[in-house]
Amino acid sequence: MRAQIRPARALSGSVQLPGDKSISHRYGMLASIAEGVTKIENYSTGADCQSTLACMQSLGIVIERQQGRLHIAGRGLDGLRESAAMLDAGISGSTICSLSGILAAQPFVPRIGGDDSLSRRPMERIIRPLAEMGAVIESRENRFPPLTVNGTRLHFIEYTLPVASAQVKSCVLFAGLFAEGRTTVHEPIRTRDHTELALREFGADVDVQRRSVTVTGRPHLKARELRVPGDLSAAAFFLVAALIVPESNLTIQGVGLNPTRSALLDFLVELGAEIKILDITESAGELFGNIGINSSRIRGGLLEKARTAALIDEIPVLAVLGAASEEGLIVRDASELRVKETDRIATIAENFRRMGLAIEVQADGFQVPGRQRFHAAQLDSFGDHRIAMAFSIAALAADGPCIIEGAEAASVSFPEFFDTLHRVAP
Ligand code: S3P
Repeated sequence: MRAQIRPARALSGSVQLPGDKSISHRYGMLASIAEGVTKIENYSTGADCQSTLACMQSLGIVIERQQGRLHIAGRGLDGLRESAAMLDAGISGSTICSLSGILAAQPFVPRIGGDDSLSRRPMERIIRPLAEMGAVIESRENRFPPLTVNGTRLHFIEYTLPVASAQVKSCVLFAGLFAEGRTTVHEPIRTRDHTELALREFGADVDVQRRSVTVTGRPHLKARELRVPGDLSAAAFFLVAALIVPESNLTIQGVGLNPTRSALLDFLVELGAEIKILDITESAGELFGNIGINSSRIRGGLLEKARTAALIDEIPVLAVLGAASEEGLIVRDASELRVKETDRIATIAENFRRMGLAIEVQADGFQVPGRQRFHAAQLDSFGDHRIAMAFSIAALAADGPCIIEGAEAASVSFPEFFDTLHRVAP
């Protein structure tokens, strides 16, 4: 699908977001191995989280939608059934990584794979710890999906993550649920803690000490009633849109404000963004709130080290903000961007080039000068949802209408994105 985006005058109104993608995956998987029917409100509408549900259904879990809520009939830790077909994770890294932790403990031999993009993503990062726990995983060229998971009775490990990755942490902790004893993950840099919070919510024994998380194996997970907060990473597109389009004023409702994710808001405020956070509530250990934002003068800044890891999904749209800022944006320590749905350093740079925007690319980051003029262009998502949405926002500030090729990619995390954009930027 090609989307045409016209330059916008002022954005106004209220934005509703899909449920948080990371939290939805975790609730979907844990509900399946809990005992009883879990009811989930605002589960992500994105294709990624539907891939997780489809995998769980292939493993014998009954999932129904009733009055807008998802009902997942969990079958307990040992209740998954063999699937005749290969499990299809689509383009979802979170699905293949986290679910592999569960698959590694099954008495059958599941296969899991996905589309071309997923088939290029490195999996040694999960194959290695699962092998330490006793599972033998076959993969293409010893590193790429599809994976054939020869599961076993897992044994606990103490594992230090070689890369800052919440998906890998999730994989090891989920595998730890099936191991006798206590499994510990040490993180070099703190990543999002939705797994820890969700495990606790379903009744697992989880101990968090600074950057180490320990889970006790063989818990009785119990069904819960849960509500997923709006996805802050989806909000990021509208936050940046409001900042760069003059005289804008947006309210974003029911957004997840988990402190391991909200570094985005701190960063934007540091750059000069006028942001108000109202009505903070808590549910299942996750914070929710409403955000008000006005267009603001943005100074520009530097992202490096732990902050880069905390904002990894927001970097495409922050690159756009950087080019519109006074002093530009420097991004370092971001080599993980190279192994997302696309090589995001390359796909950001290519769309910058098409819009006549300067960018200097390094192996693990880039540098974008500020005060740049955005020229109308034919842009491309390259099949990557965050690239589709980031450059739709850039298009709002262009000097003429832009085309986004492959705009349908947005539906991986935010199927309502273009409708919402048209509503607030008529
Ligand atoms: C996610 C973690 C991040 C992020 C991805 C979702 C998760 O990846 O980029 O979109 O749900 O745990 P990492 O595994 O690199 O942290």
